[in-house]
Amino acid sequence: MKQLSNVALSLLVGLVTVPMIGKSAEVLPESDAAYHQRMAWFTDAKFGLFIHYGVYSTLGGEWKGEPVPRYAEWIQRWGKITPEEYIPLAADFSPDALDADQWVKAAKDAGMKYMVITTKHHEGFCLWDSALTEYDLGEATTFDRDILGELKAACDKYGIAFGTYYSIIDWHHPSQRAEQALNRTPMRDKAGYVKYMKGQLKELIDRYDPAIMWFDGDWTDWWTMDDGADLYNYLRALSPDMIINNRVAKRKEFKKDFGTPENFTPGAALDHNWEACWTVNHSWGFKKSDTNWKSNEVLVQKLIDIVVKGGNLLLNVGPKADGSWPDAAFGQLGAMGGWIAQCPDAIYEAEFVAAAEPAWGRIAQRRGSDEQNGELFAYVFQWPENGKLKVRGVTAGRIQACTYDGKALPTKTEGTDTLIDLSGVKPADYATVLRLQYADGLNLSNVSYDLELQGNELILKADEAALSGSGLKLDGQAAVGWKQASDQAKWTMNIPAPGKFSVKLLYGYEFRKPISVTLRVGGQELKAELPAKGSPENLKIMDIGEIELNDVGDAVCTLQFGRPAAEARLSLKTVYFVPVAD
Ligand code: GLC
Repeated sequence: MKQLSNVALSLLVGLVTVPMIGKSAEVLPESDAAYHQRMAWFTDAKFGLFIHYGVYSTLGGEWKGEPVPRYAEWIQRWGKITPEEYIPLAADFSPDALDADQWVKAAKDAGMKYMVITTKHHEGFCLWDSALTEYDLGEATTFDRDILGELKAACDKYGIAFGTYYSIIDWHHPSQRAEQALNRTPMRDKAGYVKYMKGQLKELIDRYDPAIMWFDGDWTDWWTMDDGADLYNYLRALSPDMIINNRVAKRKEFKKDFGTPENFTPGAALDHNWEACWTVNHSWGFKKSDTNWKSNEVLVQKLIDIVVKGGNLLLNVGPKADGSWPDAAFGQLGAMGGWIAQCPDAIYEAEFVAAAEPAWGRIAQRRGSDEQNGELFAYVFQWPENGKLKVRGVTAGRIQACTYDGKALPTKTEGTDTLIDLSGVKPADYATVLRLQYADGLNLSNVSYDLELQGNELILKADEAALSGSGLKLDGQAAVGWKQASDQAKWTMNIPAPGKFSVKLLYGYEFRKPISVTLRVGGQELKAELPAKGSPENLKIMDIGEIELNDVGDAVCTLQFGRPAAEARLSLKTVYFVPVAD
């Protein structure tokens, strides 16, 4: 076999692209170092503003006086509005009250570092005057300001990176238009449409030099991984530093440049860069009836939950028809900015630590911390009733100080736990950040996600189960490949004494929706909904309920999940029966 020279080897290593690219698609080679350098401002940013604004905003989620269910930007489809009726609505698009400076300043004051605006959503209307269509701000309206140019200038003024959202599906383009009301996205002239997209994307780059190109609508069946890779390469050639989201290809497979969990937050750090998008209420586009404003507490805690896992939060506001924002959004963003301003490093310097998620909140370490020296942030969401907060797993005797707002708090070491006395402290609004200084041996990696076992539990392990189901198999000690509701893990267990047990699962599950689980033992059944929690790489413990087992001796126990979605990631390692006192 031919030996590779060192030079050839280092060249190869240097040019390996970041993994997680699907089978056939090939993107331009880029060294890990170059990729990380290109991504650095983004991974440092933590917080950005998403804006959904288009012709749909003029309807505010209502058609002919009636509210239309679901997201407002989908009104054309869910309201079954024909293109003949929908297209002329663009004439009403007149963002006279759009104040770019005000929007961007609100983002800046909120602590956001970038924004992404829908330059073309699924409806196909373009927020800039494109030479390639008349369905845009130029020809289809009487409004003649360059709103993207105004926003870009305001972003430059405030030091905010400017990003553009662009939908792959396009209900207006002739290649897809006619059948949209049938809830299908046909494709009649893919080559022509791809040329149109490329032309439009080049216009956006030439005119507004976006720092991020944010795609969507990748689920349509005529769009493939290869199409995505081709488009990605085309854009990188036009704008080498631009960051492109994974929906440029197929989001389930493609993870470059960053993943885009939507309305959900993964349970732990991921093996790729990611940004979770959420809205300040429910709909992305403005919807009159949507007053489901998230509380400031929910928003601040969401931001924390995301950044401690290494992600960014892209938080959406849907401006009203005239381009002004709903008042509530200013309040929400202002509250978040006010909170961040009190402890900015707890957001911008937070780094994931592989430790159990405390029931009272979250923890992260300050960037640059190591086992010798560093700082741990404890974000308290739920104030302990006895005023004592327990941080598990900081090696005994090594914690140097715990401070809140510059004041030292009494601490006590108990085994590998640190008890912090909060009795003299008033909780901050939304989340209280404590700082734990440590030296010489913060031993968090020793904290297991597992239960603190007492020795009297009944434990069923996946690698000891009879697994039945076509794809079900062991990955390490965990059962993965759950596909059908009939897939099951089965054990014969021994009930040593009658008693009541609390049943807990050690599992990892990543998906937008919860999944059901059914456990049967001794003629009884326990059913529960399992939230998305953890991941196959970082399992979590979850209580699924209590069960009484009174027949001493052998019992057959089976466990089944509901049918998981194809893209869900589900892994089961252990079932615990923890005795509970009567
Ligand atoms: C979904 C919706 C879309 C929204 C987007 C935000 O894909 O189709 O309306 O723009 O999510 O991530």
